[in-house]
Amino acid sequence: MAKDTTGRLHVTVRSGGRRKLSSKLWLERQLNDPYVAQAKREGWRSRAAFKLIEMDDKHRFLKPAMTVVDLGAAPGGWSQVAAQRVGATEGKGKVIAIDLLEMPEIVGVTFARLDFLDNNAPDKLLAMMGGAADVVLSDMAANTTGHRKTDQLRMVGLVESAAAFAADVLRPGGTFIAKVFQSGADAGLLVQLKRDFQTVRHVKPAASRQDSSERYVLATGFRGRH
Ligand SMILES: C[S@@+](CC[C@H](N)C(=O)[O-])C[C@H]1O[C@@H](n2cnc3c(N)ncnc32)[C@H](O)[C@@H]1O
Repeated sequence: MAKDTTGRLHVTVRSGGRRKLSSKLWLERQLNDPYVAQAKREGWRSRAAFKLIEMDDKHRFLKPAMTVVDLGAAPGGWSQVAAQRVGATEGKGKVIAIDLLEMPEIVGVTFARLDFLDNNAPDKLLAMMGGAADVVLSDMAANTTGHRKTDQLRMVGLVESAAAFAADVLRPGGTFIAKVFQSGADAGLLVQLKRDFQTVRHVKPAASRQDSSERYVLATGFRGRH
């Protein structure tokens, strides 16, 4: 085992046999990723938890007794962080989470397996929430087709739907955070968000892989429904 530039041991996975090069590279990246190791040590369901921790440490939008909606929640890192920070683990705030995939239970989180793009998803979410939300989070990523333009449009469509949902359910002063990919295709989304929120910024947490075009749009100070 060699050491990398930071002095950490670097694990190399043997290729060949039935293992494809893409799975070898994925496995190597997982084994050598300090956030994966830290998430395992600290009991977070995903390395993504550190992205939300960093954004909230800096911008302080998760507060005790808040209601948070987590769209695209599985395997549950963000839901764990939100539940802890709003106090849902002690029965104070509320975290409502959905995903296309099943998600094992998390204390303080109400989960439903649901496609956010289903026509009746907003109504189902509202029924689970039982009132307005303070924060809407979306870490959803659309499945890719391999066709760049199609993938960009699908991703933008997903974020725009999440932003429209947020504008329907947030309390004045509320926060919306969504994963976006730097593509230049989200100009319309930014216009919509700047109309609805006092502050809109793009953020790239340290835990977001540097070689990916992933960013988060962080919109704070919801102005209220028109
Ligand atoms: C990057 S993962 C989320 C990781 C999560 N934030 C965490 O901390 O563990 C993205 C998730 O979005 C979900 N997703 C994508 N499209 C969706 C949709 N239309 N409705 C619900 N969930 C969706 C995927 O199933 C996937 O689990």
